[in-house]
Amino acid sequence: MSSIIDSFEAGSKAVVVGASGAIGGAFVELLRAENRFDVVEMSRLSGQVSLDISDETSIEAAAKDVQGSGQVDLLINCVGLLHDKAGLVPEKNLKQLSADFLATYFRINTIGPALLLKHFTPLMPRDRRSVFVSLSARVGSLDDNRLGGWYGYRASKAAHNMILRNASIELARTHPLAVLAAIHPGTVESPLSAPYAKGHPTMSPSEAAGRILGVINDLSPEHSGSFFAYDGSTIPW
Ligand SMILES: NC(=O)c1ccc[n+]([C@@H]2O[C@H](COP(=O)([O-])OP(=O)(O)OC[C@H]3O[C@@H](n4cnc5c(N)ncnc54)[C@H](OP(=O)(O)O)[C@@H]3O)[C@@H](O)[C@H]2O)c1
Repeated sequence: MSSIIDSFEAGSKAVVVGASGAIGGAFVELLRAENRFDVVEMSRLSGQVSLDISDETSIEAAAKDVQGSGQVDLLINCVGLLHDKAGLVPEKNLKQLSADFLATYFRINTIGPALLLKHFTPLMPRDRRSVFVSLSARVGSLDDNRLGGWYGYRASKAAHNMILRNASIELARTHPLAVLAAIHPGTVESPLSAPYAKGHPTMSPSEAAGRILGVINDLSPEHSGSFFAYDGSTIPW
């Protein structure tokens, strides 16, 4: 099989957070097939390292766990929430707003990724290229919002993008070769998209992950703090 991602040295450490998800699992499979990575799977219930993104203690412990075996060259955060079994569904209108549901969206889609940045960017090397990608969503784009609705999900992804952009400015001072990027994976067949994907063209998780690895392969420090789609195009904020 030809390599999709050859811009990392052999033996690089790749951490996939949310490895139990559809897209996260596809990243793990593709990265393992590359043979150049030491792949670490993180998820709250399965995976090699346990990580609950709603709990900073768990994030800190997961970071300590990988720290022992060297620096993190590539981290891909695939955790995200759109609906859950407790009745959280994306809001259609203002009447459906709930403080609890909004807080839940922000806890998983914004605060969790912010805390990943806090605990994992110190593990990224200062003297060679490294990449931190967090999956976002095009619906988090303010410019691109024409349909409305989905208040909590949209706003939590927009705030996610701001946190990542902010961190890219700070990290450039200490890690000039690091790249931080928010990436929209496309509409991908997964439990997250299943109730809403009808009528939309979809990709398999494997296709989406493969295309995103192609984007990651071409990222360099001048791209840090950007918002890309799976096809490498830039998404307006
Ligand atoms: N699929 C799409 O069409 C689409 C479109 C745009 C953006 N995205 C974004 O892409 C990312 C991946 O989505 P997906 O489609 O692969 O969804 P998915 O299959 O539902 O995966 C979601 C992942 O998030 C994890 N997660 C949720 N809450 C967590 C918590 N508290 N701690 C740790 N992990 C937690 C889930 O873990 P468990 O297995 O433990 O529940 C699962 O691994 C998300 O950020 C999503 O917003 C997806």
